[in-house]
Amino acid sequence: MGQPNLSLLLVLLSFSTVTVCYPTGAPISACETMMPGHVGIFPQPKPAPYIIKTNSSSVKSGRPIQVQIVGPAYRGILLQTRTFAQTTLFGKWLQPPNNTKILACPKNPVGAITHANTNLKDQSTTYIWMPPDSGSPPVLFFIATVAEAYDKYWLGIQSAILYQYSVETSGVISGSIETSGANEITWATNIFTVTFLQFTKSLLF
Ligand SMILES: *[C@@H]1O[C@H](CO)[C@@H](O)[C@H](O)[C@H]1NC(C)=O
Ligand SMILES: *[C@@H]1O[C@H](CO)[C@@H](O)[C@H](O)[C@H]1NC(C)=O
Repeated sequence: MGQPNLSLLLVLLSFSTVTVCYPTGAPISACETMMPGHVGIFPQPKPAPYIIKTNSSSVKSGRPIQVQIVGPAYRGILLQTRTFAQTTLFGKWLQPPNNTKILACPKNPVGAITHANTNLKDQSTTYIWMPPDSGSPPVLFFIATVAEAYDKYWLGIQSAILYQYSVETSGVISGSIETSGANEITWATNIFTVTFLQFTKSLLF
């Protein structure tokens, strides 16, 4: 009698380890890897059915950016702002929307947001991110791991690139040229494009 029961117990124990999950938010250990703690469950292949939508394509200190996850309703999320080739989390998340919370990551205690429960969230769930006052890199993007269900998640979904709206740029526009609004926008776009090309070049060569 003792022997079979013991092995049954061991089997049950190992199942309970496998089903570790985080219904109340991503763990701190996910801050860098963005991997949910869903042991033994691999990310879904890309492309993800989600798009990270922002209400601005440039970053300016003091101007908050609205972020939404557009796609099927989801239950789990880990959302951050990064630049290329770094694990630094930039800026801070303001008032987490319902069913979500700030995750205090070691490098930035207000630099990540995650789910607070497994209630469904959708594209009406709006996250508000505030850029850093200083030290913002030239380009940034939002990055998210999104779980539609416990066993179905996409790792590291990236938004379009956001460009730094630099002091230099606004200086050029407001200081030296008298223009209409439309021309100012063209100027800003050109300077962003140049910055982007330089950036791309530095990546390629
Ligand atoms: C984006 O949304 C935030 C928060 O709602 C708002 O403060 C900001 O002015 C918006 N930016 C643009 C460019 O509309
Ligand atoms: C958030 O939850 C509160 C309390 O349940 C509710 O009154 C409020 O309308 C919700 N806000 C949104 C944006 O759904």
